[in-house]
Formats: sequence, structure tokens, C-alpha cells
Amino acid sequence: MEDELKLILKQAKEGVSDLRSLSDFDTFKSKFLGPKGILTVTAKGIGKLSPEERPLIGKVVNEVKSEIEGLLAGIHESLETEALAGQLGPEVDPTLPSPFASYGTKHPLTQICEEVTRIFRKLGFSIAKGPEVDTEWYCFDALNTPESHPARDDHDTLFLPENTQMGNVSKKGDERYILRSHTSTVQIRTMLKETPPLRILAPGRAFRRDTVDATHSANFHQFEGLYVDKNVTVKDLKAALDFLFHEIFGKEAKTRLRPSFFPFTSPSFELDFMSPKLGKLSNRWIEIMGCGMVDPEVFKSVGYDPEVWSGYAFGIGQERLAMILYGIDDIRYFYQNDVRFLRQFR
Ligand code: DAH
Repeated sequence: MEDELKLILKQAKEGVSDLRSLSDFDTFKSKFLGPKGILTVTAKGIGKLSPEERPLIGKVVNEVKSEIEGLLAGIHESLETEALAGQLGPEVDPTLPSPFASYGTKHPLTQICEEVTRIFRKLGFSIAKGPEVDTEWYCFDALNTPESHPARDDHDTLFLPENTQMGNVSKKGDERYILRSHTSTVQIRTMLKETPPLRILAPGRAFRRDTVDATHSANFHQFEGLYVDKNVTVKDLKAALDFLFHEIFGKEAKTRLRPSFFPFTSPSFELDFMSPKLGKLSNRWIEIMGCGMVDPEVFKSVGYDPEVWSGYAFGIGQERLAMILYGIDDIRYFYQNDVRFLRQFR
């Protein structure tokens, strides 16, 4: 039987080069491998062999079969290409690019993300990332946000069910998993991993239990910034943010800091900016982001000595920045994938 199988393989090897069309191919394939094909019929003879011979011959059958299949796969592609060329005639080259090809555009949020990343790279910041599902400790406790803070309420933060398992994010005791409500979590994750001095920009998605309207979305994007070194002052913070706004809106852009409050910075500020080139929004103060000097409690929660280290942090909404820059008046456009909207951002 082994000889018979070898003969079948020899016939297949010789026959395959005679195939000229896809219909020749089909006939050839069923002659060897079809339900009544010679290999199939021969293989059935295994049943009559002795128990010792069966596995040996079975192996030969499988080898012959996969060799024939390999031959067939090779020839099929070239027959198909020939068939297509035959239908189109010799004057058409189907491998040329289509004259109607249109290239996509980058999503405006991708564009703003690349732009801001480029700007902070110039200041020596590197890009950091953290998980979108995180724990209450990373999102609140380590950021000096007390248990009673309204952001921790079910109304603002999306909590995952208690039995949720997350292999890559470990949680302590009975704390809960949440969809991170801001990207400030990445401050903590980075400080725990690295030793100061450090400077990072963390672009990423955040989630809140907001009802969707023109300015709110339950998922949105932020840039988180963190700078840690010795003797960092508010002047360093202001200079970095001035650089950001000058790069995006031009040298005429102005910024100002207004006192504010965030649990993780002290002092805390809102940053407003003004630009003469913003259509309806020109020449008036626009509130754009939160920032401040890293609170000593935050340094303590990651084991940095606040007597030695100082720093600043900031958070900007990517959508908000893009809406002001491009004059977009409804946040929902970002997520609808309407090409008429997306094509405007070439
Ligand atoms: N995490 C804040 C938010 O989502 C934004 C923010 C404000 C981040 C001040 C900061 C900061 O790092 O210093 O509203």
C-alpha cells in the first residue's frame, strides 16, 4: 500500500503542471482528494491492514495528502490571477493603484494628541500610560482625595461590579475597581515605578457618569502632566504652560493663573488663556485647565520625601482644547465617525 501511495503522489506531481484553468484545477483536486478520489479510496484500505501496520501507513497517507494540498495551493493562486487577467483583457493591469483611491484623515483628537505630545517632548517630557480600569487608591486616596469627596460618589464615578477580576491591576482589600475618572492616576503609577527627577505627559481616556450633551461625554480624553525635581516653583509651571499655548496658538497668546482647589495640588490654579486669533472667542479669557504644585501628601503616598522633592502637575481636556482650537461646538461630533465632519481636519 505504501507503494501505491507513492505512486499517487508521483501522478499528482506530474499532473499539476498540466493544469491550465480553474476548472482543470477543480477536476484535478476531486480526482485526488474528493470523496471518491484516488487518495481517499486508497486510504480506506487501512482498515484491512494489521494493527501494527495501520499507524505507519496512516502517517504516509497524511504526508502524501498534505504534500498534494501544498501543490494545489501553489497552483491555485497563479491560475486565479491568470483568470482575472483573462477577463480584463491585456490592456488592464489590475495591480495598478485605483484612480479613485482616497486617503483617510487623522481624527482631530489624534491630531491634538500628536501636537501636544510633540510640544512637551521639546521640554524633555516622556509619554506615560496607565490602565483605564483602575482602583480607588490610584484614582483618589493616593491623590489625597478624601473618602467624602463628591467625585468619589456613585453619581460621578463609574464603579465596576464587586466580583470583577482584573489580572493586570491589583487591588487592596475591599477597595473597588473603577473606570478612571481622570488621568491623574498616571502620576501615581509613574512615581511608584520611577525615581525622581521625572517629567511625564500622560494622554489618555477617562470616564464619568455624565449625561451626554453638547459639552459632556461619559468618555473623554485628557492630558496629565507631572514634573518632579528639586526646587520646582510656580514659575516653572507657568513657563511650561506658556510654551504650550504659544506653540499652539502663536506668540500673541496670553495665559493667567487663578487660585483654585484640587486635592492633589497646593497651591492649585485654573489656567485661563486668551488669543487674538480665535474668531468669536478672540481676546477674552477662556478657562482651559487645572494645575498646581504637587501636594506633599501625594509625595508621601508614593514614598518621595516632600522635604527634598517638589513638582507641578496639570490636567487638560483633549476635547476641550480641540473644540476651542478648531471651533467645534458639540463634543458628540468627535465620536460619530461622520466623514463629513472628519474630512474637515486635513
Ligand atoms: N484631574 C483633574 C480633573 O480631571 C484635572 C487636574 C487638575 C489635573 C489639576 C492636575 C491638576 O494634575 O494639577 O478634573
